[in-house]
Amino acid sequence: MADSASSSSKPEDTTATEQATASGATVKDEGSTSKKEEAEGIQCEGAIGGAIGVGRKKAGADSDEEDGDAGYEDEDDDDDGPYNDEEDKEGFMKMLQNFLMTKLHIGGAEDAPKVLDEVSVDGIVKYILSGQCKNIITMAGAGISTSAGIPDFRTPGSGLYSNLEKYNLPCPEAIFDIEYFKNNPKPFFVLAKELYPGSFNPTPSHWFIRLLHDKGLLLRHYTQNVDTLEHVAGLPADKVVEAHGTFRTSHCLECRKEYSQEWMKEEIFKDNIPTCPECSGVVKPDIVFFRESLPPRFFMLTQVDFLKCDLLIILGTSLTVQPFASLIDNVPSTCPRLLVNREKAGSLDPMMALLQGMGGGGGLALDSPRNTRDVALLGDCDEGCSKLAELLGWKEDLQSLLTKK
Ligand code: OAD
Ligand code: ZN
Repeated sequence: MADSASSSSKPEDTTATEQATASGATVKDEGSTSKKEEAEGIQCEGAIGGAIGVGRKKAGADSDEEDGDAGYEDEDDDDDGPYNDEEDKEGFMKMLQNFLMTKLHIGGAEDAPKVLDEVSVDGIVKYILSGQCKNIITMAGAGISTSAGIPDFRTPGSGLYSNLEKYNLPCPEAIFDIEYFKNNPKPFFVLAKELYPGSFNPTPSHWFIRLLHDKGLLLRHYTQNVDTLEHVAGLPADKVVEAHGTFRTSHCLECRKEYSQEWMKEEIFKDNIPTCPECSGVVKPDIVFFRESLPPRFFMLTQVDFLKCDLLIILGTSLTVQPFASLIDNVPSTCPRLLVNREKAGSLDPMMALLQGMGGGGGLALDSPRNTRDVALLGDCDEGCSKLAELLGWKEDLQSLLTKK
């Protein structure tokens, strides 16, 4: 497990260089909690866009925090003429790695047990087709649903957290914070109307996951999404773990009476704040808010599933919210992990990869010289899934699911 936050049962946003507190607060305490945040019982990051999407990569070696701009990319970094800091850093890291490997005999990959013949997409495809890979777990986030028209959270510009100004929130994450919701449920319900599930169709990525199930290879699909699109794509309920809950049921926050999706939908579309006829408490869809516990099913199944996993496929997530993000470290230490995403989410800083490269734990070792199992298929999820289907010889199977929809 990567950090203290990983053992928490409540969703925590670790974009704040993984300094989320054990209380389940989603945000970092920079010692500057505003009056508004205090009044609303939550603490927020300094600004929208703080540490957007960088996840684990910022943890460890990077030291932006010391510059007083915790979690932010230094805009000057890209503007140094021919001397690009990132390239210099990468070059230096490679040199250091080579030096340590040759002089000190550490960091080499030769002694790690290998499951993949080749640490590449082709290697993964060969492994899937070998018959040795029987239990695939998929882990997904908002990136698999963006092509359906549902925004993700942290992509600058298009992500939900960049577009909540009209709600006048103390910070974007407040819209999913249970304490904020108890004081002011209106913004959430206005947003819920806008994003209500049912008006969207599964994407090729969802259909690819369904195809893994049809091929008898899917052990479980873990999703952070509450859009229910995996169900619309025909994955059986027992194959899906909705780690951050669902819109299908709702409960009164006071008396816990359950309400149906139809009831909730009607209330939301009438622009009501759904209120319990029994006790006048606010009724909230069963999606998991920050500072709420994840469903018991999540904890029950993660304990058994991840030990059995032969291949982990991670799709469309920034891997910034705990405890979900740390699941990638729960698979056996030789289990191959394939990331299908626009960015290298969840990957170890090269320096950390080198120092920590003594086997397993702490994120994807995509840039480690000892990497024997982690592969990134960077770019659009749907394209990545279509490419995988093609390489696996399943192009027509995927096509027929896509046209059947
Ligand atoms: P994020 O918005 O944090 O991350 C989405 C990731 O998918 C980013 O790495 C994007 O670059 C990538 N992405 C977006 N569109 C893509 C596409 N078409 N193809 C490939 N990659 C794409 O969303 P999540 O990781 O799902 O929790 O966020 C996790 C949790 O944070 C959510 O469940 C929610 C949120 O706060 C709660 O509300 C409790
Ligand atoms: Zn009630």
